[in-house]
Amino acid sequence: MASKAWLRCIEEKCGASYPATEVRSECATCGNLLDVVYEWPGADAERLKQTWQARKLSREPEDLSGVWRFREIIPFLSPSARIISLREGNTPLLEAPRAAAYAGLASLAFKHQGFNPTGSFKDNGMTTGVSQGAALGKSVVTCVSTGNTSASMAAYAAAGGLQAVIFIPAGQIAAGKLAQALEYGALTIQVEANFDTTWKLVFHLVKDAGLYLLNSVNPFRVEGQKTIVVEMMEQLGWEPPDWIVLPGGNLGNTSAFGKGLREMQTLGLIHRLPRLAVIQAEGAAPLYNLLCRASRENRSALEIGLQPVSNPQTLATAIKIGAPASWKKALRELNATQGVCEKVTDQEIADAKAVIGQSGIGCEPASAASLAGARKLVAQGIIRPKDRVVAVLTGNLLKDPAYSLAYHEGTLALDTGGGKVAIEPRFGNAPVSVPPDAAQIRKLLAGRGR
Ligand code: F0G
Repeated sequence: MASKAWLRCIEEKCGASYPATEVRSECATCGNLLDVVYEWPGADAERLKQTWQARKLSREPEDLSGVWRFREIIPFLSPSARIISLREGNTPLLEAPRAAAYAGLASLAFKHQGFNPTGSFKDNGMTTGVSQGAALGKSVVTCVSTGNTSASMAAYAAAGGLQAVIFIPAGQIAAGKLAQALEYGALTIQVEANFDTTWKLVFHLVKDAGLYLLNSVNPFRVEGQKTIVVEMMEQLGWEPPDWIVLPGGNLGNTSAFGKGLREMQTLGLIHRLPRLAVIQAEGAAPLYNLLCRASRENRSALEIGLQPVSNPQTLATAIKIGAPASWKKALRELNATQGVCEKVTDQEIADAKAVIGQSGIGCEPASAASLAGARKLVAQGIIRPKDRVVAVLTGNLLKDPAYSLAYHEGTLALDTGGGKVAIEPRFGNAPVSVPPDAAQIRKLLAGRGR
């Protein structure tokens, strides 16, 4: 299935288009973001499914990747282009009865993106973004990040022989992510500001300097992240669930999921669209706020426009974003899928994370917003107890061990600027200390040997 790819402005009234080889993340005419669009010549859905299945037996690097195995749905690279892959994707769909019960659902599966090579869903998009950068002859790639994007970009840049330059909010990213960026050899610039301020500051600077920007405003990142839902549908036997629940920060993933789902429907791979439920942290919920206002005022959210949260606060640092770049794309996908947006508190995130841990699965804080959100939506009667739900876990438990330790030890607290709010360890599991004394240890073990 050979196809033609180009870039097109997301604003339908504008509709400006650009060659796929142009380095650009915004429309030159109206400033909106861009989509990669394709001409799909006569796709045969059943053949595609068989081809993708058959590739599971192949040992070719592009077939071993859980992104490039689906290359017919991301056909923007020329056949001779180099693919920079670390065997991303191939992440499991894990049934989690304990978490289902916590949410009030009959069943629940987690699509765990923390199984990726750098431990987050960013790898799905970074293999495509860095490969495109390399194909365009770029040698330096850059991003502003709450941690995972930078860790992932640093790894793929290193794997492809490119230099990575990353900007991170100083002291506001989890230690595991910073350690990864350093280890993978990125030039790591810590800016004494939050994510939003840093983004505003460097967006034009990096462009002017000719660096290749790999935030999710890069439409080729979105293409790779699309394959998360393609792989999910394959794992579900191409029978879409009722809901896909995911955390929302900069809203790139929401944009990618919606685009992927719509394209799968166009190609005849699925016959209906699951509903997307995007979950934001209460202290960083600009999309949630916008949708509430739109419903209150009975006006279109697009017309009202996003009001950034000026000082976002949450312990889930990955989604501590007040001015999400992809809000318009995300809104389009919520409209297309009859989606919803909800917000959850830091206490709800922390408890949901502990429950995911107790399921033997584990995840980083931002990921747990998906379970906390699913629980809230079930309680509100929006998700029905028997609905088929997939919740996406975006990052690995080991990304942010300090958070887990503090929760279980009962010292986790959210600094709101106006004082600290303690997080209660409702599912806490503090370590037990003993002196080197056999009698005391025996006492601790008593009754446990059954
Ligand atoms: N979960 C995790 C673990 C993340 O790292 C992010 C985003 C999100 C959820 C939200 O995804 O931005 O597509 O809505 N992290 C970005 C970063 C912003 O820089 O690593 P989104």
